[in-house]
Amino acid sequence: MSIDESLFRLDHRLAFVAGAASGIGRAAAVGLARFGATVICADLDARGAAQVAGEIRDAKGQAETCPLDITDEAAVEAVVKDVQARHGHIDVLLSTPAVNIRKPLLNYTPAEFDRVVRLNLMGTFLITRAVARSMSQQRGGSIILTSSIRSVTTEPGQGVYAATKAGIVQMARTLAAELGPAGVRVNCIAPGVVETPLTEPIKNRPEWYDAYAKRNALRRWASAEEMAGPIVFLASQASSYMTGAVLFVDGGWTAIDGRFEPPV
Ligand SMILES: NC(=O)c1ccc[n+]([C@@H]2O[C@H](COP(=O)([O-])OP(=O)(O)OC[C@H]3O[C@@H](n4cnc5c(N)ncnc54)[C@H](O)[C@@H]3O)[C@@H](O)[C@H]2O)c1
Repeated sequence: MSIDESLFRLDHRLAFVAGAASGIGRAAAVGLARFGATVICADLDARGAAQVAGEIRDAKGQAETCPLDITDEAAVEAVVKDVQARHGHIDVLLSTPAVNIRKPLLNYTPAEFDRVVRLNLMGTFLITRAVARSMSQQRGGSIILTSSIRSVTTEPGQGVYAATKAGIVQMARTLAAELGPAGVRVNCIAPGVVETPLTEPIKNRPEWYDAYAKRNALRRWASAEEMAGPIVFLASQASSYMTGAVLFVDGGWTAIDGRFEPPV
């Protein structure tokens, strides 16, 4: 293997991005295409996915739109089968869709619990299982699941979301163990605070927004585009010996306990 910039290239690779219409998925889809991948832009929001695919094609990249609900088992199976049949291989999977209902655990209803777990864990499981089956047959591929700093640190109101983000890590590690012999790598990206539509409500609350900015070493929020580099890295041969890992892209949030600065 040569060590040059081609390590990061994704030419002739097919990347399936679930959640491509918005936020981190959108930035990653654009980034993966920039590095040469053909990107399947999958999302529940078909119009948003089509927009991102169009943006990629306008920049001379290759992309397709794929309307998909990752919690619909039959739809997931059909879409992956179709992509596999038309392209012959799926080399990269990124799955981002998740929901957070911020509420104290004592006030959580079973319906709310089910909604969060259904998308974050079951949806991730369904799309991962379908693509992983195809990758294990072709004996290679890179799967990137989206965890969060909430997999290891939490705060009031994040109980169920945090549980799903920790669950995704354990699912990824187990899959890494199960698929390693077939050459399929499985890793997680764990973002800190990223400005996207998901976190828009926080942006509208300055005291909350600023407190999160101060909570990490870089003292600011990330843009969605700052997640694209680490995702391209995990997708590419540059990370060929990484599997079962969690890559924290959190501005140092999990490295420090910076709520108080001692006068030293
Ligand atoms: N934004 C942050 O600060 C932050 C921090 C840590 C982790 N994360 C994680 O990053 C991931 C992406 O977050 P984001 O901020 O980009 O969110 P986002 O809301 O901007 O994007 C999520 C996308 O998923 C799609 N989606 C929702 N349900 C779907 C379904 N059933 N099937 C297919 N697509 C569906 C939405 O249409 C949307 O396009 C999430 O897993 C989130 O937990 C985000």
